[in-house]
Amino acid sequence: MEKKYWKESAAQLQRIVLPEDTNVYGNLYGGRLVEWIDNVASIVAFRHARRKAVTGSIDSLFFMSPIRMGDIVSLDGRINFVTTSTMEIEVNVYSEEGTTGDRRFTTKAFLTYVAVDDLGHPTKVPQLILKTEEDKRRYAEAEQRNIVRKRNLEIVKRAMREKVSE
Ligand SMILES: CC(C)(COP(=O)(O)OP(=O)(O)OC[C@H]1O[C@@H](n2cnc3c(N)ncnc32)[C@H](O)[C@@H]1OP(=O)(O)O)[C@@H](O)C(=O)NCCC(=O)NCCS
Repeated sequence: MEKKYWKESAAQLQRIVLPEDTNVYGNLYGGRLVEWIDNVASIVAFRHARRKAVTGSIDSLFFMSPIRMGDIVSLDGRINFVTTSTMEIEVNVYSEEGTTGDRRFTTKAFLTYVAVDDLGHPTKVPQLILKTEEDKRRYAEAEQRNIVRKRNLEIVKRAMREKVSE
């Protein structure tokens, strides 16, 4: 299978925060931001795998500063790491105050997508081309996160098996 470079699948999304996107404090509702993050990350996963890919997990999501109604929100998604059938996608979120242009980094998320065939079974994805030192650093860091993720997945699977046998 042909290897691919992360720039081939990178994706961006921009939104203006409308009243229906806000919580009772006038800030962007966290659930809405998660939806946008999942949306841009799924575009990256589709572009990389060029087949159906489902969200497996959202294992880190840090909300660093609130986003206000009327702000312009920019989401940058890129792939960091792949295994046989999974892809780690990183999404960074920035807010921009419409009148001043003040730009702030607000959120970082790491999501894992699993490429599946028509029957929903995990299937192979292209491996990643690592060109720069930064590509290699991102890959190595993601590899460490993947170890933790797999351990957590095992804990969840064990708990599910125990529930079924109760
Ligand atoms: C994700 C899914 C396809 C995995 O199927 P599965 O048969 O359990 O997969 P396997 O145990 O064979 O694991 C295949 C790979 O996926 C990884 N994986 C499985 N479930 C995962 C999860 N929930 N999160 C992250 N990685 C996962 C495994 O670690 C394995 O990785 P590898 O390629 O490094 O070996 C299946 O659990 C599923 O369909 N889940 C629902 C997805 C969904 O509805 N998402 C929300 C809407 S899109």
